Amino acid sequence: MRLEDKVIAITGSGSGLGRDAAKLFSSEGARIVVSDVVTGRAQKVAADITADGGAAIGIDVDVRIESDVQRLVDTAVEEFGRIDVMWANAGVPEPDFGKNLFVDSTLDDWNDIVAVNLTGIYLSFRIAARQMIAQGHGGNLLATTSSAAFVAYPGFPMYSATKAGGNGIVRGAAVELGRHGIRANALCPVHGMSVNFALPPEAEVLGKSYDEMQPWNPEHRAMPLDVGRPPTLRDNSHLALFLVSDDAAYMSGQTIQSVDGGTFARPAIVFSLRPR
Ligand SMILES: NC(=O)c1ccc[n+]([C@@H]2O[C@H](COP(=O)([O-])OP(=O)(O)OC[C@H]3O[C@@H](n4cnc5c(N)ncnc54)[C@H](O)[C@@H]3O)[C@@H](O)[C@H]2O)c1
Repeated sequence: MRLEDKVIAITGSGSGLGRDAAKLFSSEGARIVVSDVVTGRAQKVAADITADGGAAIGIDVDVRIESDVQRLVDTAVEEFGRIDVMWANAGVPEPDFGKNLFVDSTLDDWNDIVAVNLTGIYLSFRIAARQMIAQGHGGNLLATTSSAAFVAYPGFPMYSATKAGGNGIVRGAAVELGRHGIRANALCPVHGMSVNFALPPEAEVLGKSYDEMQPWNPEHRAMPLDVGRPPTLRDNSHLALFLVSDDAAYMSGQTIQSVDGGTFARPAIVFSLRPR
């Protein structure tokens, strides 16, 4: 019970990483406010948690809208008495999942992705931090950014910019809020992430990683780690669990790559491995 009685709000938790982690956090004793922009997704996750004996409420929240994020924090306080953790997890990819050329993108494309991926973190952190300061017992802010904050993926320059910006907010918030006992960190995923991210909002929530949906050969990865299975959402959720738990009580301002670290594990010049 590493999260016993902690009250945790998670944005974008009707699918993917947030959904999986909400269930893991509940099994560790947390009370969860699940939220998502797609109507009904969050309520379904909360119902699953409640059916398993946990405490959760699901609400529709669009992280681009200030009053929605305020309602998320207010719901945590009204339902569970306070907020201990705000996890700004909601995010969107580039239009057409990277198939659009940068030169063909529009200012509307830019404003849309900034509104969710960057303004969403800003609003979630700022509004939750005000409540945490008023409560007076510290608090914990977590953002989901991406390995794209550090390196380029073809077709994702605007996405990379928003995720690098998210890591910037994390460092700045950590420095400014530390005196209130409030920590801020980012989880920067690479592998084992939600296949729904590449699907339209009306798609069924699959609860699987890309890596689970295709033939898995670790030899073809930057990090050829063979543990007999592909990486999963749960592998990412475990880092989130560590970061929101008191095990990370002295960790703040960190932006940590989750799952196999392929991005940083190899030099740009690829030397081949010896055959087995
Ligand atoms: N899947 C990946 O390839 C990948 C890789 C690295 C980082 N990430 C990041 O991980 C985070 C979680 O995504 P995921 O992989 O679980 O994908 P996902 O699509 O399964 O889940 C993201 C959820 O965010 C919700 N959402 C989108 N816009 C929103 C808004 N305006 N307000 C509130 N909710 C909104 C979606 O409805 C969805 O339920 C995102 O920040 C994403 O950028 C994803």
